Amino acid sequence: MAHAGTLDIRGLNKQYEVRGEALPVLQDIHLTIEPGAFVSIVGSSGCGKSTLLRLVIGLEGDYQGEILLNGQRIAGTSLNRGIVFQEHRLFPWLTVEKNVALGLLNSNLTEGMQRATVREHIELVGLSGFEKAYPHQLSGGMSQRVAIARALVNRPDILLLDEPFGALDAMTRAHLQQELLRIWQQEGITMILVTHDVEEAVFLGDQVVVMEPRPGRIRRVVPVDLPHPRERTSFAFAAAKEAVMHEFAGHPAAELAEPPLKRGEPLAPASQWQFAV
Ligand SMILES: Nc1ncnc2c1ncn2[C@@H]1O[C@H](COP(=O)(O)OP(=O)(O)O)[C@@H](O)[C@H]1O
Ligand SMILES: [Mg+2]
Repeated sequence: MAHAGTLDIRGLNKQYEVRGEALPVLQDIHLTIEPGAFVSIVGSSGCGKSTLLRLVIGLEGDYQGEILLNGQRIAGTSLNRGIVFQEHRLFPWLTVEKNVALGLLNSNLTEGMQRATVREHIELVGLSGFEKAYPHQLSGGMSQRVAIARALVNRPDILLLDEPFGALDAMTRAHLQQELLRIWQQEGITMILVTHDVEEAVFLGDQVVVMEPRPGRIRRVVPVDLPHPRERTSFAFAAAKEAVMHEFAGHPAAELAEPPLKRGEPLAPASQWQFAV
């Protein structure tokens, strides 16, 4: 079992420069994530969820405030943090095992150990027998399993997932949510999941961080004190979901609409509003 450090985000502010003007994207984010926790993040499009993950993974270093892992400031990417995106980002000309092995490019394991680790992780995501398959021979769900195996192959302490099941059909999504839960319990690592799906957030998260946009802020952290596996049809589950949904209630529709409405732009008919949650 991995022993992840505590992730401590303190007074985080992030802005981008757009056409010479500073665009505040994240404002005053404070969040402490204990080792081994499962934290879900929900919020409308553009509220900075992906930016927050990019900062935690270390792909961007330009920010104000502190992002500390085990008390150390995060400086650049590291093998102890893995990430999975909505698109699987597999190389089409490489087999499943070669795609997973790519995650080990910077590791110092011997060749034999690398082979064993790759095999173990293909098994972990339930793809034994598909080692020699190419991405075009896999379904969307299977491709995401490969992406998860690749992200875990270095045995990271933290796995970040940015809407990993967003492009999958409902049945596959529900199945992969259970699989992710199993992997989390088996590996004992910290998982941070960004999702548009409140049910997914509540099914998996110990806490659901609700963000609000322009600039991206944390509106509330909703604890989900329910044992796993969670029964989606139970009253307690519905109540937890309701607590998260409540944070979106009473917001002007424009705040949840996607794409963000610009000042002065005519409002689309209500039938065309797209809610991000
Ligand atoms: N590289 C960038 N340059 C300028 N603006 C960006 C950049 N990346 C993201 N943004 C802006 O930051 C905001 C937050 O984006 P993002 O983190 O992708 O939101 P989310 O993942 O919640 O949809 C958006 O307004 C987006 O347009
Ligand atoms: Mg995003």
